[in-house]
Amino acid sequence: MYNDIQEILVSEEEIAKKVKELGKRISDDYAGENLLLVGVLKGCVVFMSDLMRAIDIPLSIDFMTVSSYGSGTVSGEVKMLTDLRCDVSQFHVLFVEDILDSGKTLFFLKNMMEKRGAKSVKVCTLLDKPARRVADIKADYVGFDIPDSFVVGYGLDFDEKYRNVRFIGALKPEKYAHILG
Ligand code: IMP
Ligand code: MG
Repeated sequence: MYNDIQEILVSEEEIAKKVKELGKRISDDYAGENLLLVGVLKGCVVFMSDLMRAIDIPLSIDFMTVSSYGSGTVSGEVKMLTDLRCDVSQFHVLFVEDILDSGKTLFFLKNMMEKRGAKSVKVCTLLDKPARRVADIKADYVGFDIPDSFVVGYGLDFDEKYRNVRFIGALKPEKYAHILG
């Protein structure tokens, strides 16, 4: 598995340090508020579980599933597969995402939560690829800006693999060349 990685972009140590910083900022910003972390599955799982433990104020969590990449590397249409269980009108919603790429997913989800009457809707993403943004959206909390290469690890997959890689790495291009055609 680790042989398929060309280069480490963000190390385990850098991630851990950044997650602590984000947790501290979020704890300060949402003190006294009813905070709901909404994870976008499946890419969020590793980041979400570390981030929620770096936040030291009371919070609730919930998850959504949307269809996005399939096994390719280009963002298609966004479709909701699993919805939240809770009524967001009681909460300040903070989306927790692995990566903001075209921005289509979060643009769609953010609008949906606003329509449902959430008290506020913000976005926390571990990674941001601003070069590829199509939708009009900016994250409120960003771990790292990264260049336009396909990355895996710390929850991010390629064709459902590499989510358990401990750092963020760029995949060797020959690993996904067949999909780009
Ligand atoms: P967006 O809608 O284009 O912003 O894409 C969002 C989703 O695409 C992310 O939540 C990821 O699941 C996936 N994605 C985008 N870029 C990458 C990448 O470099 N590696 C793995 N998944 C990615
Ligand atoms: Mg995702």
